[in-house]
Amino acid sequence: MKTYQFPKGFLWGGATAANQMEGGFKEGNKGLNIADVLPGGKERLNILQTPGFKFEIEDGKFYPNHEGIDFYHKYKEDIALFAELGFKVFRMSIAWTRIFPEGTELEPNEEGLAFYDRVFDELHRYGIEPVVTISHYEMPVNLVREFGGWRSREVVHFFERYVQAILHRYKTKVKYWMTFNEINSGLEFPIMGLGFAIHEEADKYQPTFQAYHHQFLASSMAVKLCRELIPEAKIGCMILYAPVYSYDSNPDNVLYALKEAQLFNYFCSDVQVRGEYPSYIKRYFKEHNIQLDIHEGDLQLIKENTVDYIGFSYYMSRTEKIEKKPEEMGQGNILGGVVNPFLQASDWGWSIDPVGLRISLNELYDRYRVPLFIVENGLGAKDKVEEDGTINDEYRIDYLRNHITAMGEAIEDGVELMGYTPWGCIDLVSMSTGEMSKRYGFIYVDRHDDGSGTLQRKKKKSFVWYKEVIESNGRNL
Ligand code: BG6
Repeated sequence: MKTYQFPKGFLWGGATAANQMEGGFKEGNKGLNIADVLPGGKERLNILQTPGFKFEIEDGKFYPNHEGIDFYHKYKEDIALFAELGFKVFRMSIAWTRIFPEGTELEPNEEGLAFYDRVFDELHRYGIEPVVTISHYEMPVNLVREFGGWRSREVVHFFERYVQAILHRYKTKVKYWMTFNEINSGLEFPIMGLGFAIHEEADKYQPTFQAYHHQFLASSMAVKLCRELIPEAKIGCMILYAPVYSYDSNPDNVLYALKEAQLFNYFCSDVQVRGEYPSYIKRYFKEHNIQLDIHEGDLQLIKENTVDYIGFSYYMSRTEKIEKKPEEMGQGNILGGVVNPFLQASDWGWSIDPVGLRISLNELYDRYRVPLFIVENGLGAKDKVEEDGTINDEYRIDYLRNHITAMGEAIEDGVELMGYTPWGCIDLVSMSTGEMSKRYGFIYVDRHDDGSGTLQRKKKKSFVWYKEVIESNGRNL
């Protein structure tokens, strides 16, 4: 088998988000965030895709994010396991509502700040650098209810206060930052990313793109503050990237795929990396009657504060054609498109395409020429605990091996890749379905979809494999 040369200092690790793992949803004065009001089970995906969501906790429903996997109390045990894996970095998010429970307070919540101090100190004890997402689908519910989420420009100021607080507090502890998780996903899942539900067709246009303008301002503000306060730190954007293939060589389909890619894959990173609204979006705005409210100084702020690197998640590719017949549509490929006859899919219908990762790395690097960081990738699968207690997740090892091979090839293509943090390095609550049974981890957590289980941690077979990958800097796959 061919071996690959990963750069010295390559950032191997794993990725998580506060809302999907911490639990302790009311501890330490934490306020409610969006994930706290999302019930579990398949109902969640419907909620994310249908209008009229109320952002309230209802009696009789189960909310899996409330307990997560109890990282809030078990972080020492979990970090010790990450250290055993040999992690160089650990991607996590700060829950905005631990720091500003309602989002509108003037002073940060000390208990929340102290919790992340303890987590960062524990990571550093083992030489693991935190990679921190400032906002990972965790907007305070109060800002959603009172201000309509990111539709409101006032939210930029609340966010700035939050960013000020965490950059000041952790300036000696965190070197890698990212602003908004999968910022472009708001085009598909506005509830999570933009903090409002689409109630009518018109919401998709003016309010959505106005909300994006506010997020771009907030992101640029964070970059500016980060440069001032922690000049040696690196701060990136974070996008959900899925290369868009044309179903065939019909130029109309090729053009359609290109337009879909421009809007979904590139619009946000074009603004955050190049510092300008791209020309194609201006035509789109005109065609959909979108007129952004842009204040004096906004465009300059965006221009002057572009990101240092692109963090992105990669799970699947997408195949598009203009006229899609119902029988051609994929089941569960959350980004839509038609079934690609050359690809297999996960049990949740997400197409598995390691070559697509090499394509993505080449496309992104050619377009932007800035370092790339794969901050999410992985296979959501059902795991079985055998009678002897082992978990033989060969399918996960195969998936990850093929994707790391694609990374090795892309590095040979000349792509500058900083690191790799597979998603859900420890099993956690699924974002799209709220299930625990959709597992990604090297570490199994005994917790189930109905909330039962001991929360005990167990190493899977992939744990031993990934440890060796890191130890050999990607040579032994
Ligand atoms: C990404 C998100 O879209 O995909 C994560 O940033 C999420 O929060 C991950 O968990 C996997 O998706 P899911 O729905 O399988 O948890």
